[in-house]
Amino acid sequence: MESSLRSYNGPRIKYTPSESPFESITVDKLTPIIGGEIGGVDLRSPSNRQMDEIHRALAENLVIFFRDQHLTPEQHLDFGRKFGELHIHPAAPADPAHPELMIIHADKDSPRANGEGWHTDVSCDLEPPMGSILYIRTCPPKGGDTLFASMYAAYDALSDRMKTYLEGMTAFHDGESVYRGLYKNSNMAEKEQYPRATHPVVRTHPVTGKKALYVNRGFTRHLVGVPRDESEGILNYLYQHMENPLFQCRFRWRENSIAFWDNRCVQHRAMWDYWPHTRSGNRVTVAGDKPY
Ligand code: SIN
Repeated sequence: MESSLRSYNGPRIKYTPSESPFESITVDKLTPIIGGEIGGVDLRSPSNRQMDEIHRALAENLVIFFRDQHLTPEQHLDFGRKFGELHIHPAAPADPAHPELMIIHADKDSPRANGEGWHTDVSCDLEPPMGSILYIRTCPPKGGDTLFASMYAAYDALSDRMKTYLEGMTAFHDGESVYRGLYKNSNMAEKEQYPRATHPVVRTHPVTGKKALYVNRGFTRHLVGVPRDESEGILNYLYQHMENPLFQCRFRWRENSIAFWDNRCVQHRAMWDYWPHTRSGNRVTVAGDKPY
């Protein structure tokens, strides 16, 4: 059952977005809580001023979108490098010439599509990715949207008692159970081992200082230090809570669009509702730090 967050005492989350103007880009918010479409910039050659404002727009909107961009693979990688070192995915297929350029592709013969459940990218890494920059070049005529959810808003809307319960708690994230055999249809060689890590259930964003829930259905297996039945009960509650549409925005792709999400405070989920059509592009993933 999904939590309703219904309230008779005013809304459960009261959020006042920054009204500070942008000068070198435009930002059109999808919702007051999450998502902003950026205009007025060509990502092949952004100015320093535009880069500063893109950083700020990401921090304020959690996921940002760009339309009508025409990047070569090298320009896509260069844009990612402006945010930090690039991450190489532990299992997924990549462009043969560029291991940092992950392939995102589904067509009528695909056995699966990437990202169909709510998740944070590679949260099983000891230092999970800071952000992901997905560039979709081929779109189905309809569908193939991606949903994004704010883990700040999900944390803020918890009761004070639940926040106290979760304080200092950690959870185990397991790449082994996710990646082993997952890409066998892409002929990927299996690794001897896939990453596993223990992270705080509530993490503090290193840039904004805000707290965000950091457990996800994709990788989190159990809470540490409590019995398994309690762990299952609490995690199921948190998943239902964080999937409330109040915390979400939904992006409708067009060809040559880019979505750039901050994995430290956002979960996402891709819709595979466009079979037998093709949806195809690449993801550049920016490396991150150990969550605290
Ligand atoms: C992903 O999880 O990186 C894939 C998201 C998408 O294809 O929309």
